[in-house]
Formats: sequence, structure tokens, C-alpha cells
Amino acid sequence: MGKTAVVYWSGTGNTKMMAQAIAQGCDSVGAETDVFYVRDFTKDMMDEYDMVIFGCPSMGVEELEDSEFQPVFDSCKEKLNGKKVALFGSYGWGDGEWMRNWVSVCEENGAVLADDYMICNEEPDALKEEICGIDGMLKRKGIRIKLLRIWDKKALVYAYRPSMLHKDLKNETAECILQERGYCTEKAGSGNCKKCLEHLIERLEEYKEFSHEIGLFLGYPPLDVSGFIENKACNYICKGCWKVYTDKEEAVRTFELYKKCTQELCADYRRGISLMQLAKAV
Ligand SMILES: Cc1cc2nc3c(=O)[nH]c(=O)nc-3n(C[C@H](O)[C@H](O)[C@H](O)COP(=O)(O)O)c2cc1C
Repeated sequence: MGKTAVVYWSGTGNTKMMAQAIAQGCDSVGAETDVFYVRDFTKDMMDEYDMVIFGCPSMGVEELEDSEFQPVFDSCKEKLNGKKVALFGSYGWGDGEWMRNWVSVCEENGAVLADDYMICNEEPDALKEEICGIDGMLKRKGIRIKLLRIWDKKALVYAYRPSMLHKDLKNETAECILQERGYCTEKAGSGNCKKCLEHLIERLEEYKEFSHEIGLFLGYPPLDVSGFIENKACNYICKGCWKVYTDKEEAVRTFELYKKCTQELCADYRRGISLMQLAKAV
């Protein structure tokens, strides 16, 4: 497994906590990981690492921290072309604009970016830290973990493969359902599902009504999702992981498969096999 550098700046410690969780996640999958406060890192060190994970909070007005982090990052730009890079950081009152701008700068400089960045509102609590660590660990198997919503001491945590989500959201019926609910499906079509996920999180936070289109993000057949919405959850022909309105036989086969996988994976997990060993790269 490749050598990884985690390079961060942090004023009040939030991004530092994220850096530590990410480094732990990398360590746990056997990636040789070095953590640097940004002033201890130079552009020449970029060549020593297969992957560089940069962390900086939103400062100024949706900007990178300009006295220490920005100068080092600017000097590293010439080494970004073809380099595996991931980004993370904490933010306060904004909507993550600094991170979107930062992603664009990395893309313009030819960096090979991880599918998704990691951002955290203010201080990561134990749950967010754990999610950050697991996400860093499973990313190597093409799986991402995202916290969708917390309420009543419960958390809705989403695990997904970006490549499969992209395929699912490109479906014509799925696009219609999403467009009607204000999703930017053009972005999904171009291989970037981040915008759709961000919109889903916003809708779950607003919670005017439950966002039933979430089924599209879980791989449910789009016609079953539209059937569910149109029939207000009634008139289904069978039910299992979801309510079925179209292909009953195929759905029943899938429910059986999910049940078997869940039983086997849970049994392995209880026997002490780690999440990383259980997760398959496809
Ligand atoms: C000078 C300054 C500027 C900031 N600007 C923004 C901003 O534009 N947008 C935002 O969402 N948060 C902003 N924040 C909030 C920080 O991003 C947030 O508190 C973050 O958790 C700090 O991370 P750290 O603990 O790693 O320093 C700003 C904070 C400071 C001190």
C-alpha cells in the first residue's frame, strides 16, 4: 500500500482532529502515513508520497488560511499534476464554498482527486471523527461513508460506491424524479454526484417531508421509487428492503441476496474480521 502524507493547518484544532482521524484510518489499512503540520512540509516532499491529503479550514471569506497554508499549497501546485490528492477541512457558517473552490484549483492543476472531499462543521465529535476514519480507510476499496443527518441521538450514515451511484443516478426515470425535486442532474451525468448528495443532505435537514428519492441513492429500481411516491406507499405488489411496484421476481431475488450477504457479513464481523477485510474492492 502506498505512502501517504497528511498535511494540515489548524487554528483552533478542528482540522487537526480530522487529520488525526484520517491518519488513523490510513494506518489501519497498512498505508505508511506521515502527518505534517503545514509549515513542516515542502513541495520537494511531494515526490516521496503516492498520495497527499491536504487539510485546511475555511478562513478569510471562504478561503484557505493565507499566512501558512496557502503559501505552502501554492508552492506544491507544480507537483500536483498526476498526483493522488484528497482534501479535508472544517468550516463554520458557510456552505463549503472554500472546499469547492479548492477542488477546482486542484483539478486545474491536474491532481487526481479522491472522489469526495471530507468537510466537517466546526469540531468533529466522536461520531464524525469515527466516520472520517472509516471513510479514509474504505476509500481505498472504492467505498465512501457520509453522515447524512443526526436527529434524536440517531445518525443516518450513508455508505456508497461513487461509481455505482453515478450509474444509478444517470437512469432516465431517476433523473426525472431528481429534477422535479431540484437536484442538479447534469452534474450527476457528468460523473459528479457530489452536488446530488449535498442536495439530499439539505433536503433531509429541511425535512419538509421525508425525501423518498433517497431510494435512488440506495440502488432501488427507479420505477419502484416513483411507484412508491405516486402511490403514497400503498398498492405495492410485494415488499422487502423496499416496496415493489414493477418486477416482483427480480426484487425477491435481490432481497434474498441482501439477506444472505447481511447474515454472512455480520457473522464474519462478529468473528472479529475487520471492516476493511470485509469490504471488497470492485
Ligand atoms: C478568521 C476566520 C475566518 C473564517 N472564515 C470562514 C468562512 O469564510 N466560512 C466558514 O464556513 N467558516 C469560516 N470560519 C470558521 C472556521 O472555518 C471554523 O471555525 C473551523 O472549524 C476552524 O477550523 P480549525 O479549528 O481547524 O482552525 C472562519 C474562522 C476564522 C477564525
